[in-house]
Amino acid sequence: MKKINVGIVGLGRMGLTHAENIVERIPEAVLVAVCSFVDEELQMAKTKLGVEKAYTSFENMLLDAEIDAVVIASPSGLHGEHIRLAMKKGLHVFCEKPIGVEVEDIERTIEVVEGYPKQIFHLGFMRRYDKSYQYAKQKVDNGEIGDLTLIRCYGIDPASELGNFVQFATNSKSGGLFADMAIHDIDLVRWFSGKEVKRVWAIGKNTAYPELDDLGDLETGASMMQLEDNTMALLVAGRNATHGYHVETELIGTKGMLRIAQEPEKNHVSIFNNQGVVRPTSQHFSERFKEAFFREMKEFILCIQDGKQPGVTVYDGLESTVIANACQESVDTGKMVEISK
Ligand code: NAI
Repeated sequence: MKKINVGIVGLGRMGLTHAENIVERIPEAVLVAVCSFVDEELQMAKTKLGVEKAYTSFENMLLDAEIDAVVIASPSGLHGEHIRLAMKKGLHVFCEKPIGVEVEDIERTIEVVEGYPKQIFHLGFMRRYDKSYQYAKQKVDNGEIGDLTLIRCYGIDPASELGNFVQFATNSKSGGLFADMAIHDIDLVRWFSGKEVKRVWAIGKNTAYPELDDLGDLETGASMMQLEDNTMALLVAGRNATHGYHVETELIGTKGMLRIAQEPEKNHVSIFNNQGVVRPTSQHFSERFKEAFFREMKEFILCIQDGKQPGVTVYDGLESTVIANACQESVDTGKMVEISK
C-alpha cells in the first residue's frame, strides 16, 4: 500500500510528539515536511528526524511539498484557517484540539470539511485512544455500571508546566482554561454518555498564580453540567498540580462505579523511604498519554489508507468548544448558561 506523505505545522510541545511518532513508529507514513516559526525546531527536524523540507510559512508548505496529509499542531486560534487551507488543497487533515476557539470560525471550517467528504478529517481527542478509557467505555456501553448518573473529571496540569503555558497563552489565543484544558473532559462526558450538555454553571479562582489574571485566564476552574437526559457532570480543570499531571475520571452508574487513573501513577513502582511509601506520578501529558498519541496518529494514517472516516469528527469539535465557551461565559457572568440547540 502507498505510504502517506505527511507535513506537520507546529513543532512545539505537541507537534514534536506527533512528528516523532510518525518518524519512529508509523511505517505506513513518511514525514516529508515541517513548518514552524522557530529555527531551532526546523533544524532539529532535519538533523534528528531526517525531514527533508522545512518551512516557516504554512501556505508555502502546502504549495511546495508533495504531501497527502497535514498534521496541525499550531496554536489553537490558527486551527480553523489551517484546516480550511489544507482541505481546499485536497489534503487529509489531522488537527489537534480544540478545532477552534470561536464558534463562527468552526462553522466555516465545518462547511469546508463537508465539501470534501473523501478527504479524512480527524480531531485530536487522544483520550479516546487510551486503553484504559477504551476499556471503561466498553464496560459502560455493555451496561455493566447501569445507567449513568454522574461523571466526575479532573484535568490538572503540573505546576511545573505553568511557565510554558504562560508563554503559549501570551503568544496566541489559547481559548482559556475550559477550551484549552477542560475540553478533553467535555469530550469524554459526551463520548461516555452519548448525550449533549444542556446547561452549565462554572466558577474559577487564581490563588497560586494571580499573574493569570493579566492573561484573562484561570488557574483552577470548576464546572457543573446537566446533560439532556439529566445526567450530571462535574469538571475540575487546573494548572497547579504540584505532584504531576493529574487526569482522573469517575463514572457513577445505577449498578456500579468506574474510576480511571484514580492516582496518576507513573508505573508499578512503590518507593519505601523516610517519606513513607511513595508512588511516582506521571509528569506530563506526553508521558501519560504517550501510547494514546501514537494510537490516534496510527488510526489517522490507516483511515487514509482504508478511505474511512475516524470516530472523532468536526461536529465533536464544534460541540466541545460550544460547551467550553459556555463555561467561560458562566465564569464571566456568574450565571448558569443554557446551551441552545
Ligand atoms: P507550542 O507553543 O509549544 O508550539 C506552537 C508551534 O506552532 C511552534 O512550533 C510554532 O513555531 C508554530 N507556529 C505558531 N504560529 C505559526 C504559524 N502562523 N505558522 C506556522 N507555525 C506556527 O504549542 P503546543 O503546546 O504544542 O500546542 C499546539 C496545539 O496543540 C494547541 O492547539 C494545543 O491546544 C494543542 N495541545 C494538545 C494537547 C493534547 O493533550 N492533545 C497537549 C498540548 C497542546
